[in-house]
Amino acid sequence: MTLVCRFAILPCMCGIVGYIGPRDITSVLLVGLERLSYRGYDSSGIAVITDGELGCWKKEGKIHELSEEIKSLTIKGNVGIGHTRWATHGVPNTINAHPHLDTGSSIAVVHNGIIENYLSLKKKIKAAGYIMRSQTDSEVIVHLIDMYYKGDLAQAVRMAMTELEGSFGLSVICENEPDKIVVCRKDSPLILGLGKGENFVSSDINAIVTHTRDMVFLEDGHMAIVTQDDVTLTDFEGKAVEMKVEQVTWNAEASEKSGFDHFMLKEIHEQPTVVRRIIDKHVSVDGALQFNHLEEAMKDLTKSMRFIIQACGTSWHAGLIGKYLWEEYAHVPTEVDISSEFRYRQMLSGSDEFVVAISQSGETADTLACIREAKSKFFKILSFVNVKGSSIDRESDAVVYTHSGPEIGVASTKNYIAQLLNVYLFGLYLGQLKGHLSKADVIKKVAQVKRLPGQLEKILDQAPTFKAIAEKYYKSREFIFIGRGLNYPTALEGALKLKEISYIHATGYPAGELKHGPIALIDEKLPVVCLAPNSVTYEKMISNIEEVRARGGRIIIVATEGNEAVKDLAEDVIYIPECDEEFSPILSVVPLQLLSYYIAIMLECDVDQPRNLAKSVTVE
Ligand code: G6P
Repeated sequence: MTLVCRFAILPCMCGIVGYIGPRDITSVLLVGLERLSYRGYDSSGIAVITDGELGCWKKEGKIHELSEEIKSLTIKGNVGIGHTRWATHGVPNTINAHPHLDTGSSIAVVHNGIIENYLSLKKKIKAAGYIMRSQTDSEVIVHLIDMYYKGDLAQAVRMAMTELEGSFGLSVICENEPDKIVVCRKDSPLILGLGKGENFVSSDINAIVTHTRDMVFLEDGHMAIVTQDDVTLTDFEGKAVEMKVEQVTWNAEASEKSGFDHFMLKEIHEQPTVVRRIIDKHVSVDGALQFNHLEEAMKDLTKSMRFIIQACGTSWHAGLIGKYLWEEYAHVPTEVDISSEFRYRQMLSGSDEFVVAISQSGETADTLACIREAKSKFFKILSFVNVKGSSIDRESDAVVYTHSGPEIGVASTKNYIAQLLNVYLFGLYLGQLKGHLSKADVIKKVAQVKRLPGQLEKILDQAPTFKAIAEKYYKSREFIFIGRGLNYPTALEGALKLKEISYIHATGYPAGELKHGPIALIDEKLPVVCLAPNSVTYEKMISNIEEVRARGGRIIIVATEGNEAVKDLAEDVIYIPECDEEFSPILSVVPLQLLSYYIAIMLECDVDQPRNLAKSVTVE
């Protein structure tokens, strides 16, 4: 067997912000970092040029620790950069936090990504007399820039870049040239925000969308010199590049809590709105489906003989449901794989086969690496992405945008629903184009889809019931979730939500597998969440629930409204509105999201920023 082995890229999962202009610099940087903190939150720092002198403040912990540290200081200046970190190289502490400074403290660098040849560069700069203060790979960059600095920052950055291997989004300032920020991008997102008499830099729209909607998404191999009134965009050799300014439509409130205690709770409550938005995008007035972005690709997609979906985390769960639906609606054999597994296997491509990436962020390193590898094997790429302009968006042959709006809570909720619905509608559309569904079939299904927002609202109205259930079980240290068919992925997703935000060990199983091992875990203390909405496997599911009951497990059942019989089997029953089986995963996951949320709150966990996690995982 030939094993496919590719060079591993391990970029740091962090957030960058930069500002040049007349506003209060610390406030722009700190608020920006706060809005980026879902990308990494173990340490942070800012560097500002104040009266011609570079100052730098860093702190281990969340952004508020840094804010506390500097709140009594008056930091004036009109150019600065900031960074929030999720450690890859070097423990999360103040020394390893960015910005990193050169020995003379006149140049500051923030870096997202990884410098793969940092050991050899470290040797080189040490030989030249430089002393490394931190354990990070990033620090070598600032010393290299300093080594090449002869009065022209952009030129020094350009020369340093020729020596860097790996990935980088960089922002650099220098006290000798306080009128500019120099930025460059290779395999790590970087965005410029254009204002009047001011300009912004960020790794993510969220940090700067409150200030401007005019953004430039840097391409790989681009660098920019950003001054207060101007931006010069070039390639790494310094050749001018045409600048494409894009208007971002995400509104700033979408990244606010809007009166909810947590982003996660707000995002769970936004789900009916998200579903309505997706219906507006894809359903025409006569009930027919439309996928405007896919028009060109549709000829190839209709010919497709096989789909291979690859994704991570919650997006993988959406992919598992995609398999059921695409095989059912469009009769296309569909495989689903976890990106980090798919990537290292032989990718055997036949003709007319698509690799499908599903990703909220569009930046997940494993998923991105898979599409790159698949492209090199001549697969076509279809992606379902939320973040427009992300790497996966830009590198795919065809893209379906999931339209959930910014998702800030680290545990994905509204985007999962959005992914599911897009996967459903795409399956229906393809099924119709391939002649397996009639127009009338599609219109009938779409009529069901239109009922979903109201049905989701009905579930959300039951939040106090879910809270009361959470109160009964929150001290359990283990949970099992079981489901069959389309609700097996729901069991996986329910378990993932719970462990992500409450740190309770939880596992999802296909209910039929229970007796092949997991049933040994059941005792009178173990809560078992059973997904049993009306379905073709309902009777089998009830038999599995009886097996749990016979062993004394504490049973919580999610069932269809009107099913009174389950009350005799369960300690607690959660009802979802009546719907066709295929739509039940969109409804049945919502009580599980809320159950996890309330349990996490009762355990006093940090719901929006759970320990050790990051929203956008850009390391493999
Ligand atoms: C991280 C997030 C998960 C997400 C997964 C995949 O682990 O914490 O919520 O499902 O990445 O992310 P993607 O952006 O590719 O959907």
